[in-house]
Amino acid sequence: MELSRRDLIKVGLFSSAALMLPAERVARTKLAVANRLPQSKLPEPFTMPWKTPPAAPKTTVNGVDYFTITQQQTKVNILPDRQTTIWGYNGVTPGPTIYVDQHRPAVVRQICALPERHPELGYNVWTSTHLHGSCSLPQYDGYASDTTTPGSFKDYRYPNIQDARTLWYHDHGVHITAENAYMGLAAQYILHDPVEQALPIPHGQYDVPFILKDVMFQDSGDLVIDDNDENGIYGDVVLVNGVPWPKMEVEPRKYRFRMLNACVSRSFDLSLDTGEPLTVIGTDGGLMPHPQPCAHVKIGMAERYEVVIDFSKYQPGQRVVMRNTSPKNNIDYDTTDIVCAFVVGSHVTDPRNNEIPQDLNPNMRVMDLKASDASVTRNMRFERKGGGWTVNGQTWEDVVNSDYELTVANPAYGDVEIWELENPGGGWFHPVHIHLVDFKVLDRNGRPPEPYEQGPKDVVYVGESEKVRVIMRFENQRGKYMMHCHNLVHEDHDMMVQFEVGDGGDDPIHADPCKDQDKMGPLFEIPREDNSGHGSHPGGSSTISVPAAAAPAPRVQVLGSKVKKTKPKKRKVKVTRKPKAKVTHKKPKAKVTHKKPKAKKPARRKVVSSSRGRS
Ligand code: C2O
Ligand code: CU
Repeated sequence: MELSRRDLIKVGLFSSAALMLPAERVARTKLAVANRLPQSKLPEPFTMPWKTPPAAPKTTVNGVDYFTITQQQTKVNILPDRQTTIWGYNGVTPGPTIYVDQHRPAVVRQICALPERHPELGYNVWTSTHLHGSCSLPQYDGYASDTTTPGSFKDYRYPNIQDARTLWYHDHGVHITAENAYMGLAAQYILHDPVEQALPIPHGQYDVPFILKDVMFQDSGDLVIDDNDENGIYGDVVLVNGVPWPKMEVEPRKYRFRMLNACVSRSFDLSLDTGEPLTVIGTDGGLMPHPQPCAHVKIGMAERYEVVIDFSKYQPGQRVVMRNTSPKNNIDYDTTDIVCAFVVGSHVTDPRNNEIPQDLNPNMRVMDLKASDASVTRNMRFERKGGGWTVNGQTWEDVVNSDYELTVANPAYGDVEIWELENPGGGWFHPVHIHLVDFKVLDRNGRPPEPYEQGPKDVVYVGESEKVRVIMRFENQRGKYMMHCHNLVHEDHDMMVQFEVGDGGDDPIHADPCKDQDKMGPLFEIPREDNSGHGSHPGGSSTISVPAAAAPAPRVQVLGSKVKKTKPKKRKVKVTRKPKAKVTHKKPKAKVTHKKPKAKKPARRKVVSSSRGRS
């Protein structure tokens, strides 16, 4: 097969670092590290004011939400006295939060206006935008090799059919994801649904994005980018929502924080210096069945936890510090054991929605899965081999060289499988992310998952010498999806593989590739009549207000015209367990253990006693 130059760019053969001599790269890195801004010049912790990312401007037409995001290089003040060159969605980092409602599809136009080359590292730039937590079609999933180059744009279409959850969009460009994301290409995407909105949990101003990220600065103010021999990028400064160790003024009531670890390589173990618990109510895939008060919460890269903190327990003026007891195999600094502080006020503006009900989420489609539902167990080994990072011996380069045919698994649509994610190494941890699905964590080294992991997940912490079993149903879409370590440096070098759900899914690279910006038409047309426009979020809506029409507006073809509508079944799918022999174990490179799960009940977890909610 003849590859065009464009294809070569896509597969990374004209790649990034390849354009720079390794020696040159090392020299630049050393120089940058030597120029590291000393601790004495960093801002004093808990002095800088709390910030929340802006809401992305939204236009709603015919029941579809439209957003336009431009990937830009800008200089910003993360430090009060120095400017930092960053890459941001709309020029800010973290980028603007996208707020959407369930069953209202969204189109996000991503315009790549970044420079052709990275200003310091010199690599050729491309991006791919992944909406992490969404069951998007393959061509809108941010497939690493489906790249968008400077001067191009791509309209991503999102179904928003899943339950309320905290998603995030971030860069996924093949082999340069770590650098692109470290430069700032990450943001939250918050999906609401009526069940979650009706709960008396904190909403509105008390429902707060909380994005963790570590960085290191040079004396000039620019970032130090050092991947420590392909082990990871670590910083000495902890940012929350882009602010170094911020201080938040809070009212004496409950707050809900949507915690996201957006670091390239750092994990955290979070706790309060008062010893009060963090009450976890949500995980990656939305609300948990029941709240879990936890003395500490370990959060790996890309994991999300919705955590409620009750500040009514404190005196006015009291300061509560969030600490980090760093999990092993991070590179730590004197300044990485603290995260942020809350200063408690004396007045509650709005006392409503100040509860944590025992029952949070009636949808047990994921959390009711039992080991006996699975048709197969597959072992996936995340391993260092020959100086590189691999999954069952495979790398993304192998996937590229197979012309994107190589897969580690090919479950049929609707199949339930157990994947045993294994990290045989003792010197590193791997937060493993499986695209498309929500899974339930069954056990870790044979023991029950942590209390905070007892909700639907899409990333799981696979620690040193751990074997974590997760169970999931492959549904909502067909086609090829990635699985990888979310240490983005590991992912780039090259711990990423793919699986394929069913047959006949859309081609992730060719079904709807990026286009040149000079061919960019309007993102939407304003119809004569429009019955839409409930912008329920602060600043989130520039809704076009046209007289409401009662008639259902013509549906915009949100899934794309050239695309088969694999309209996912909604919640009422019959859960018929297929007794027929299926699973065409097509080209499974993975070790497939056809172990028929025993019918006997999987050891019921009686964990909760110590951690049951008290509210
Ligand atoms: Cu959050 Cu494949 O990534
Ligand atoms: Cu890893």
